[in-house]
Amino acid sequence: MKKFLSATLLAAMIFLPTTSYAARSEISFLNAGTGSDNLSVMTALMQRQTDRDFVDKDLTTVQLAKILWAANGNNRTNGKRVNPAAMGVYSVEVYAVTKEGIYLYDPDNYKLKLIAEGDFRSITSTGQSFVSKAGLNLVYVETPKAWENAKHTPPPRDRQIAFANISVGSMIQSVALAAQTEGLGNCVRGSINRDEFKKVAKLSDDKTILLAQSVGYIE
Ligand SMILES: Cc1cc2nc3c(=O)[nH]c(=O)nc-3n(C[C@H](O)[C@H](O)[C@H](O)COP(=O)(O)O)c2cc1C
Repeated sequence: MKKFLSATLLAAMIFLPTTSYAARSEISFLNAGTGSDNLSVMTALMQRQTDRDFVDKDLTTVQLAKILWAANGNNRTNGKRVNPAAMGVYSVEVYAVTKEGIYLYDPDNYKLKLIAEGDFRSITSTGQSFVSKAGLNLVYVETPKAWENAKHTPPPRDRQIAFANISVGSMIQSVALAAQTEGLGNCVRGSINRDEFKKVAKLSDDKTILLAQSVGYIE
């Protein structure tokens, strides 16, 4: 069994108004990246693996904050993030799908904004039933609007997508390592019900669903 760390240290640094995050229109927490833990990066890399034996149990809000921060959080005061992005253009958004709803992560304000209320975990897959047990399913979505504020001339569209996919590669690995520090399992997934997710998450047509990742307690 993977090492399970106490969340006490992080809990002391993360503020949440209530212990439940069910169906709130907005969830706020402070920067989850300032905590420390006892799992070395090398040990976490030794232990990295895909898990599919999830049990249906909610992540704590501390765990949620930590995983989202690893996925797309800021780690510097200049707004730059944990994971690199070509030309410093952060074109990948992270949607958090829990038993309660679909949320969009706002990395600048450490907030989750409710997009759709209800259990939509199954539509983050094309039929792999374990996704409905994982407490959290992340969906990585590329948005071309991010390039509107680029300091330099944006690359052609196909290269924008390629760059976004490379960032997602880093994001999924950061999440995998962060999950391990909490004793949680993860599974990266290319199989996503894209049409359904796009509809329910109200994604505009210019957005592209790149990848999904289940995170949760494992047997
Ligand atoms: C881009 C990508 C897409 C993947 N898609 C799926 C998927 O849809 N469903 C699934 O169960 N696993 C998926 N995986 C996980 C791989 O099957 C897994 O990483 C591979 O079997 C190696 O096992 P390991 O991660 O335990 O080393 C995906 C992995 C990557 C990198």
